[in-house]
Amino acid sequence: MAFVPPCTLTSALPSATSSAFCAGGVVPLRPGRQGRLAVVAGAAPPRAPGAATLRAVAEPLTPPSGSVDLPTPAAAIKDFDAVVMRTYGRYPLVLERGQGASVWDSDGKHYIDCVAGIATCCLGHAHPGLIAAVTEQLGRVHHVSNLYYTTPQGQLAAWLVDNSPADKAFFCNSGAEANEAAIKLARKHWHAKHDFAPPAGASPVIITAEASFHGRTLAAITATGQPKYHKGFHPLVPGFVYTPYNDADALAATVASVGAANVAAILLEPLQGEGGVNPGTRAFFAAARELCDASGALLMVDEVQTGMGRTGRVWGHEHLDVTPDVVTTAKGLGAGIPIGAMLCAAHCDVFEPGDHASTFGGNPLASAAGLTVADALTNGGVIANVTARGDELVQQLEVVAGKYGPKVVSDSEVKKAVSYLDDALASLLASSK
Ligand SMILES: Cc1ncc(COP(=O)(O)O)c(C=O)c1O
Repeated sequence: MAFVPPCTLTSALPSATSSAFCAGGVVPLRPGRQGRLAVVAGAAPPRAPGAATLRAVAEPLTPPSGSVDLPTPAAAIKDFDAVVMRTYGRYPLVLERGQGASVWDSDGKHYIDCVAGIATCCLGHAHPGLIAAVTEQLGRVHHVSNLYYTTPQGQLAAWLVDNSPADKAFFCNSGAEANEAAIKLARKHWHAKHDFAPPAGASPVIITAEASFHGRTLAAITATGQPKYHKGFHPLVPGFVYTPYNDADALAATVASVGAANVAAILLEPLQGEGGVNPGTRAFFAAARELCDASGALLMVDEVQTGMGRTGRVWGHEHLDVTPDVVTTAKGLGAGIPIGAMLCAAHCDVFEPGDHASTFGGNPLASAAGLTVADALTNGGVIANVTARGDELVQQLEVVAGKYGPKVVSDSEVKKAVSYLDDALASLLASSK
């Protein structure tokens, strides 16, 4: 059957990673290689951080059966904007249905979903295993308070502990919340080291990287080393200091300027996603580990974007040969059902009852989704597929680069969006099927 190239849906966020999710996989984290991938951009609509670019490049396919009557997009969008806060610059598309890597809008137009809910729908849309697991759990018991024990949460924690350097898990609902939990853990760990009576003048500091992204709560935007996210929200949370990413000497100087004894944690992404697809280097993470070991601070990695198989390993930090004390995860953990987790090693498991909580965190419904992802990663070949699809994408982009030159596939330092790459990719996709 001839392959009809559908529309493409790409993201203004790190395109190399989000694009690759389209094929159920992502570009494996390989410093110096995927950094050459281009930013994929559509022509038209104005961009906003995190907003998607959608371009129709071919005839629409027939959407899956069972379409419902929706108001026309213009009317639906007007009604939506009348009642939903404008925290996003949205594209004028009402997405109605998904199947695998495809989504259809309310006009029945078909798109390849390269955004994947921003690095989240790691099993694609309408995944039969996910539907079955969540439906079954919904019929059994979907939510009870964390004042009680539930089997799916315990099983998901066991999988996370077995498949990470951590010994314990705390569940929440999002990446920002996972980082909030990590920030609180680091502070409590620092205070516990001082028997909750630190010397006069001492105060815990968390070092994060410039160009980092850690979420949108007040502490998470403070941890985020990008002034544009701070604007309008001062005063920020005290106790955060920024250091250039991948600069080991600068990191050592930052630790020295803060005072090693004040450093509660160093929090880093193994690959900066939102900051521009900057892979971490082994030397930088080794230096961070050494500085933490010397000062008793925690090395915390934000795997919200890079975790759960997205880089061709379960965790992005595995590419960096470093063992963190704390790992945060969300996004792909529930394949689109909201769940996040903060994982920590036994030596820093300092939370006690009452220290931290989440009403929904790790409830049976979300944990059932997490267990489906865990099974897909362990038994479903997803991780091997990530590597295979990532290699294929890089290979094909190199073909595009060869054909159209650096105007289309630009160096990571140039990072220029090129409007006609969508068409080039679509024709490549068509010819490769
Ligand atoms: C590295 C990283 N950390 C944290 C977050 C925040 O996650 P959430 O939007 O689920 O709060 C994101 C979101 O893009 C992220 O990329």
